[in-house]
Amino acid sequence: MLKIGVLISGGGTNLQALIDNTLNGKIDGGIELIISNKDSYGLKRGAKAGIKNIYIEAKDYTSEEQYNLRLMKEFKKSGVDLIVLAGYLKILSKDFINEFKDRIINIHPSLLPKFAGSGYYGKKVHKAALESGEKYTGATLHFVDEGVDTGPIILQKKVKVEDHDTVESLQKKVLKLEHEIIVEGVKLYSQGKVKIDGEKVSINRGKR
Ligand code: GRF
Repeated sequence: MLKIGVLISGGGTNLQALIDNTLNGKIDGGIELIISNKDSYGLKRGAKAGIKNIYIEAKDYTSEEQYNLRLMKEFKKSGVDLIVLAGYLKILSKDFINEFKDRIINIHPSLLPKFAGSGYYGKKVHKAALESGEKYTGATLHFVDEGVDTGPIILQKKVKVEDHDTVESLQKKVLKLEHEIIVEGVKLYSQGKVKIDGEKVSINRGKR
């Protein structure tokens, strides 16, 4: 049974997709701990599901490093095997990334490497996709490395950008894909089918 930790900052619809699909057994694992850097609605989703959830305010710490040390301590105490960034809007420290090397995944609302890096989050990503005239956009699930949105890609799903699309309609279409690939990716990981080899990820789609 995979022990999962989740970091959030906002409403937590990706977190909800993980909650639903661990409870229904699709993912061979359970969420041990949810941490948010904001007093967000996502924490309430955890509480409703009876999952340990903590609001840890970064301002209470003297540095980003100290803040990340607290996150590391909490996740290690919960014995998590995998950490999922589900709409987490802060950058992890090098210490954190090294502590959980190759065991941190992130969901991003574009087809990486497009529309990524600092400043590209939430609606800003969809606005950039619309303005670029791209015919497709989508969602990416990837391992987290020391860059921003740059780690090895696990899964991607794309959707057509229609002439009538707005930032809001695109965000809605992409969020649906995010929920699909975050669940599919964590399910495959829980089954030991996701192998990372340097910059490449291989997925064993065969039966168990
Ligand atoms: C999603 O768009 C996700 O890609 C981005 O932040 C948003 C999180 O949404 N990282 P939610 O909090 O999971 O609803």
